[in-house]
Amino acid sequence: MTPPAEPPRAGTTAQPATVTPCTWPRQGRAAILVTGASSGIGAELARVAAREGIEMVLIARSAVPLLALAAEIGAAGPQAHALPLDLTGSGAVAALGAALAERGLCCEVLVNNAGYGLLGDIASLDPAAQLGILDLNLHAAAALMLAALPGMLARGRGGVLNVASVAGFLPGPGMAMYYASKAGLRSLSEALWAETRGTGVAVTCLCPGPVLTPFLDRAGTRDVRLFRMLPKADARRVAERGWRGFRAGRRLVLPDAGAWITAVGAPLLPRALLLPIVRRLQGGRA
Ligand SMILES: NC(=O)c1ccc[n+]([C@@H]2O[C@H](COP(=O)([O-])OP(=O)(O)OC[C@H]3O[C@@H](n4cnc5c(N)ncnc54)[C@H](OP(=O)(O)O)[C@@H]3O)[C@@H](O)[C@H]2O)c1
Repeated sequence: MTPPAEPPRAGTTAQPATVTPCTWPRQGRAAILVTGASSGIGAELARVAAREGIEMVLIARSAVPLLALAAEIGAAGPQAHALPLDLTGSGAVAALGAALAERGLCCEVLVNNAGYGLLGDIASLDPAAQLGILDLNLHAAAALMLAALPGMLARGRGGVLNVASVAGFLPGPGMAMYYASKAGLRSLSEALWAETRGTGVAVTCLCPGPVLTPFLDRAGTRDVRLFRMLPKADARRVAERGWRGFRAGRRLVLPDAGAWITAVGAPLLPRALLLPIVRRLQGGRA
């Protein structure tokens, strides 16, 4: 596949495109697709999933780290294909389907991991970059599930591992779009877990707390009180727990004690008490 022109990065003023839905090939050699595999949790999930010996398809915008990871995985295990692609482009899902068909592959497992966040109040951040968060973290993830799940259900096996966040358990003043995108992805994922029960297909939602990856710098959160005070999990450990939970058919995976405490505690606290605290800790005045 020809790599697309360098896409706009988060924080630019380019208009996000709307992903156009389609469905993917139902027959072919089984492949595990990992989005956002060029760094962080996605790269670690790809390394962990590769142990199953199934062909891999690695997706992100940056070609160089994807090619390096594909070579690393291919040297020790299954063949890995690097597909540089901006998942917010209107033709992205169809392009992935065409790439699968060209290689004689079908999607056995989809790992919906690509995502980004931006710290700042709604009026201070670029509107297109904010909508881009919903486009990638929620809309593209949903379009990929719509493309992949019909084939999985027809074959009666495989599944989807969605990487949401503990941010999906509460509203996030100071990072509102990101928290909303993760709440949407978590809701969708849990609903599909219930819809697919008993079909042989698993849908799991991995919800980490802060993890040490490039995400924190990209989002502008590194010097923010909330993120400074919270311990950062190791990306490999999060990936190991996420994959194990997915293979066990779990609905939700909270990979450590901090994630458990947030997921269970945040919904119990009165919003009027909790949200001003979150707002203050994420850089603003309550
Ligand atoms: N790190 C944390 O504290 C944390 C906590 C909870 C949940 N998460 C979630 O975990 C997931 C992975 O994040 P991470 O921490 O591993 O951060 P990361 O290292 O920044 O990884 C993000 C990945 O998404 C890809 N990506 C970004 N925009 C894309 C686009 N338009 N099209 C295709 N790929 C795109 C990036 O690659 P390119 O830039 O090359 O495209 C990169 O591979 C995200 O969904 C994030 O929200 C992270």
